Amino acid sequence: MQAGSQAMTLSERADALEEHMMHELEHIVTKSVLFNLADGKVEMEGGAALMAKNPGKYMLMGADPRLPKMPDKPTLIDYFRCRFASTAHLLQSATHALKAGHSEKVVLACLLHDVAVVSFIRCDHGYWGAQMIEPYVDEEVSWAVRAHQALRFFPDEAAGYAYPDLYVKYFGPDYQPEPYIVDEYKRARIHRHYMTARLICVNDIYSFDPNAKVNLDDFVDIIGRNFKQPKEGLGLDNSPSAHMWRTMLWPTRFL
Ligand SMILES: [Fe+2]
Ligand SMILES: [Fe+2]
Repeated sequence: MQAGSQAMTLSERADALEEHMMHELEHIVTKSVLFNLADGKVEMEGGAALMAKNPGKYMLMGADPRLPKMPDKPTLIDYFRCRFASTAHLLQSATHALKAGHSEKVVLACLLHDVAVVSFIRCDHGYWGAQMIEPYVDEEVSWAVRAHQALRFFPDEAAGYAYPDLYVKYFGPDYQPEPYIVDEYKRARIHRHYMTARLICVNDIYSFDPNAKVNLDDFVDIIGRNFKQPKEGLGLDNSPSAHMWRTMLWPTRFL
């Protein structure tokens, strides 16, 4: 350890390491403001300052060399393998739904219900996830993914869903969902696809079993039949949510 580095806080050390790594790269890797907000900082580094700190380098305008390389025409499966930080929960939920004999649409909804959590943004993950998949799946699937955001806070004992004990542990016994979630729940309750969204909750595995055998290969055919893979590659097409997939493809592109 260098003299003086003891005086650095943990986060200063992390910043220093990150800066060091950035200098090691051929291009200047930039962070979106959202990533800084998540670190509790309302700030951004402007282009001029970055250029001054990295003489002779250009901004990164493509793939981030630190991330797994994606194929030229990525599929949903490629995102599962190279961009989703964790797939066990999704695979377990979908396996549960498959074993219970539910329709392929329900199985796909379970497989994708937390796609935003594992790959993009946690806050309002049902809304983000639904938007990501909307152009590529049946409306029943994307609607259910959106609605599970609200439904999971409200029990439906008749359908086999109690308020999760885990939520009491996570959020405390007094947690109350925001009014927009309560309103969403009321709308969802009378929607024709209510039961599909409810089945996401029922098959949502809250207690992760590390020994459960799950495999993405079990779902390749269901994905093939129910997820419209764009021929240009997922994210490289011109659907209304292609930019979201592109952002996962190239999360540190300057613009
Ligand atoms: Fe969820
Ligand atoms: Fe979940």
